[in-house]
Amino acid sequence: MDESDLAPDPLSSLRAWLLDAAAVSSAPQAMTLATSTADGRPSARIVLLRGVDDRGLTFFTNHDSRKGEELAANPRAALVLNWWELGRQVRIEGLVEEVEGAVSEEYWAARPRPSQLAAWASAQSRPLASRDALRASYAEAEERFREGDVPLPPFWGGYRVLPEVVEFWVHGDDRLHDRIRYVRSGDAWRRERLAP
Ligand SMILES: Cc1cc2nc3c(=O)[nH]c(=O)nc-3n(C[C@H](O)[C@H](O)[C@H](O)COP(=O)(O)O)c2cc1C
Repeated sequence: MDESDLAPDPLSSLRAWLLDAAAVSSAPQAMTLATSTADGRPSARIVLLRGVDDRGLTFFTNHDSRKGEELAANPRAALVLNWWELGRQVRIEGLVEEVEGAVSEEYWAARPRPSQLAAWASAQSRPLASRDALRASYAEAEERFREGDVPLPPFWGGYRVLPEVVEFWVHGDDRLHDRIRYVRSGDAWRRERLAP
């Protein structure tokens, strides 16, 4: 990879790589999200990337989940996307903000009804007595919202990761991989090559 293969702005480069990934990967939007407690204990899980705009990367989840609680205490995250078929990886670090209510509402409205009911039924990350208890909770949600649309739960919505550092990695022969890192400085981006 040459520096000139990438756009001056990393979010444009990321959008281009996502298009390449969509052509070959069955899960191009799967990304690892790392958060940590205020005292620095990390945790990581996969979420789906639901949007990339000029501000950052958006995913949706339960605000009362473990990740949601960690982001409330420490609004910083790291993301990793990997597309094995392309020999590519992208790493992102930055501050995290909750998306505007209208953004969550729009995404929620596009979700299938069973997914909406499941969001109401699941106290995500909390201990659950049994699978039957989850089924019962789902049935309660079905009954509660029997008529009309299922509303957006107050505990559910989107987060936007605002990148400060973005690294593009490409597999190279003999482990001579390419790594180009963008670092935000004010409104501009500085680029540097890193040893693999
Ligand atoms: C492929 C894949 C996609 C996932 N997408 C999401 C997602 O977009 N949002 C979400 O809340 N959980 C998603 N999950 C589940 C999370 O990995 C995780 O189990 C859940 O969010 C609870 O994490 P927490 O307890 O650390 O908060 C996904 C899991 C997999 C394997």
